[in-house]
Amino acid sequence: MTTKIAFLGLGAMGAPMAARPVDAGYDVTVWNRTAARTEPLVAQGATAAATPAEAVAQAEFVVTMLSDPAAVTAVVGELAAALRPDAVLVEMSTVGPDATARIRELVPESVGMVDAPVMGSVDRAASGELAVLAGGSAADLARVADLLRTFGTVTECGDLGSGSARKLVLINGIVAGVAVVGETLALAERLGLADPRAVLEASPLAALTARAFATTTDFSVEMAAKDLRLAGEVLDLPIMAAARRVLESAADQDADLGVAVLDLSKKH
Ligand SMILES: NC(=O)c1ccc[n+]([C@@H]2O[C@H](COP(=O)([O-])OP(=O)(O)OC[C@H]3O[C@@H](n4cnc5c(N)ncnc54)[C@H](OP(=O)(O)O)[C@@H]3O)[C@@H](O)[C@H]2O)c1
Repeated sequence: MTTKIAFLGLGAMGAPMAARPVDAGYDVTVWNRTAARTEPLVAQGATAAATPAEAVAQAEFVVTMLSDPAAVTAVVGELAAALRPDAVLVEMSTVGPDATARIRELVPESVGMVDAPVMGSVDRAASGELAVLAGGSAADLARVADLLRTFGTVTECGDLGSGSARKLVLINGIVAGVAVVGETLALAERLGLADPRAVLEASPLAALTARAFATTTDFSVEMAAKDLRLAGEVLDLPIMAAARRVLESAADQDADLGVAVLDLSKKH
């Protein structure tokens, strides 16, 4: 029998991600706060639900891909009572381990849970090449392994929350690093270096420079600043806090991180 899943959250990442299990033959019901965003998925073969509870009522696996802890808490709170007792909640948003633990408390004990945040942006979401950082019990991870593989390469990180912890570490190093690349380019321009981008690409800053200049990503400044805020709740990190303030001051909060950082670097 075809496995029924629910996918909640069809933003920049959720929309291309939800298409992957549809293409892989799962029976997918989608929900999004702004209902019009379900239409392309319905055209691809998904079913749209009017509420989170309606979306999950039949689902064996329930995927959430929402903006932040407040959004996930609100949506999971709304759907918790409608979950099948044998369902597994697969939380893929970047919310950090503390929020993951709070979300676990919202769902009945019989329901399984895996945290599986992802590295990679919309381009790799569309091609099924995300890095999926999964945490949970061995039994829950085994049940959702095939589903997670539709999104990309899965790394099992340990118990529930361990995927979120690894994700928070990596994304904050990358976001702060990309912000530093912006300032490094500004310094290079001021000192009159020829082709500053090529200079950085030929240095240990190469990978972060490539991320700053990427043209196929869509990771908003707002989401990047949210990740730095989550890190700041764990530990007082002055450089990351400074990067957060810089990003929060960017005029276009919807712009991709790289675009915004390069834009800010030109203002020096
Ligand atoms: N973009 C990337 O490159 C990237 C990469 C890896 C991980 N992530 C993480 O993936 C998650 C989603 O990112 P995204 O880029 O897809 O963000 P996005 O485009 O801003 O989408 C956010 C989604 O959350 C929904 N949402 C927000 N607040 C809500 C609320 N209070 N109740 C219900 N739904 C709500 C939005 O619904 P509406 O459509 O109604 O606004 C939308 O579906 C974030 O945690 C982000 O950090 C992003």
